Amino acid sequence: MNEIFTRIQHLDPHDAAGILREVINYYGDHVVMATSFQLGGLVLLDMVHRLDKRVRVFSLDTGRLPEETYQCAEQVRLRYGISVEWVFPRHDAVETLIREKGMYSFRESVGNRKECCGIRKVEPLARALAGAEAWITGRRMDQSENRREINIIENDPVQPGRVKINPLVQWSKSELWEYVNAHHVPYNKLYDKGFLSIGCECCTRPCQEGEDERAGRWWWEAPEEHKECGLHFTRGEGI
Ligand code: ADX
Ligand code: SF4
Repeated sequence: MNEIFTRIQHLDPHDAAGILREVINYYGDHVVMATSFQLGGLVLLDMVHRLDKRVRVFSLDTGRLPEETYQCAEQVRLRYGISVEWVFPRHDAVETLIREKGMYSFRESVGNRKECCGIRKVEPLARALAGAEAWITGRRMDQSENRREINIIENDPVQPGRVKINPLVQWSKSELWEYVNAHHVPYNKLYDKGFLSIGCECCTRPCQEGEDERAGRWWWEAPEEHKECGLHFTRGEGI
């Protein structure tokens, strides 16, 4: 087993900053952080910034993000003085998709939805990760049923040869809020309007009390579709 897996297994699984320190020491320039400016990504960004300001941070701009996400990103830029690397979809692929299927093809079938996520998120992710051996995400076990099994460190099933680090696996939403409040971390104002998980504007809605955290994503699809976009699961593993 890769040495970093062993090192991380010896750490306190709740010590996200400790996990990040170990990962940054091990991978150096070859680890990158992905943020969608949701709560977990912002907490990690704050921690990474305290540990090492040189770590590359990227975000995938699907072209359909809510205004509040850009406002949050701008607050982050000003607060931390970091230059987030925005990665966009290939314009020719988006142009063809829209010309052939219109602006809302993702509502018509799960296949169409995954096609749109593939063009706007999954393909750009592969480019964002060029040169990286490992990437850091804000995924947590308590986000949804099909995230119960995720590990702090795992071989990425979607990006073979790469390692994915999920330092917040064992954190709850209320712990994230405690961190955000204690450290005055900027956050997406959609959380104040009942959103629990935030992706593209047209595919995210607020949630009702007691709903699964990811219930507001692709809400028109049946729950057994697992509500994943393909960044983290291969077909058969969740999408
Ligand atoms: S997703 O698969 O539906 O996008 P979710 O929104 O819960 O999952 O995000 C999980 C993690 O995937 C985030 O913490 C972040 O690390 C990464 N991620 C998701 N969307 C983006 C994005 N647009 N840009 C960069 N990273 C992203
Ligand atoms: Fe397309 Fe919706 Fe996926 Fe965004 S979340 S990439 S708009 S299907």
